[in-house]
Amino acid sequence: MTKRIVAFSRLKDSHLEQLRQEFHVDYFERLDNTDDPDFRAALAQAHGMVGSGLRITPELLDEAPHLEAIATISVGYDNYPVDELTRRGILLCNTPDVLTETTADTGFLLIMTAARRAVELAEFVKRGDWQESIGESHFGSDVHGKTLGMIGLGRIGAAIARRGALGFGMPVLYSNASPKPALEKELGAKRCEMDELLAQSDFVCVTVPLSADTEHLIGAREFKLMKPSAIFVNIARGKVVDEAALIAALEMGEIHAAGLDVFEQEPLSPESPLPYMPNVVALPHIGSATHETRDAMAQRSVDNITLALKGKRPISLVNQDAWQHRHQ
Ligand code: DGY
Repeated sequence: MTKRIVAFSRLKDSHLEQLRQEFHVDYFERLDNTDDPDFRAALAQAHGMVGSGLRITPELLDEAPHLEAIATISVGYDNYPVDELTRRGILLCNTPDVLTETTADTGFLLIMTAARRAVELAEFVKRGDWQESIGESHFGSDVHGKTLGMIGLGRIGAAIARRGALGFGMPVLYSNASPKPALEKELGAKRCEMDELLAQSDFVCVTVPLSADTEHLIGAREFKLMKPSAIFVNIARGKVVDEAALIAALEMGEIHAAGLDVFEQEPLSPESPLPYMPNVVALPHIGSATHETRDAMAQRSVDNITLALKGKRPISLVNQDAWQHRHQ
């Protein structure tokens, strides 16, 4: 029997071709929501799913009685009910490693552009406002030598910290569930309580995954603890931050500026004041969005689902217990 896959994100021809050599593929290049009747019909027969950007609920899983594995084209998996997938013995695969350096580049891009006001000042030039030598009112803040506070020091956090410590001579503080002795040695990073990190850092950069424990981890109290000169950077997930509290902190001058790649609602609501604030750099969730990296992520997902549906262990498996469940 040829197994069936639902592909619910745009894939390039070579990736689709690779899947079609092994499986029947129902391809939904652009799917805005899961109510699409063709998608539901395909799901009812699917053994595998590949894609990103859809919220997968237990109710939706009820519609997919043959499902064996899902390969998300992302490292984050907050759109998936992991416990429920595990309970049903459905493998969830993601794409770590291949996007680490690209996403860290984005993190550092936000640090640099927010500190040096690059977007605001590029707009100033574009408007034709550069009529004389710029003065103090257009100066930014240094990055090199300033203290970098990393909230989360996983793969991406470590890659940002490495850029800061080795490239820009930044002392690094970090808060993380577990200590990272190798990074402490390599980068001179110092683990501390989050409150201490917030009070001492010039740049506060969030890279923790979204979970019940990290939702609104940073709110009004945390912004009040930061320096008025602090620059806040979020490349994790929007919901890790209480966005209303962030807006208030920026408006009241409790922090100096923010660089944001992620938002509580994506795409960002047209009503949000954030993109119009001069001290905010807002990007449309581009963390991993380069040709090379998105290609590598799609390839990893295609490889993951192919292995999983052939009964082999996928390269990056989120729920190890589901593997035991299927193969014990
Ligand atoms: C990820 O892979 O989780 C990035 O945020 C892109 O969605």
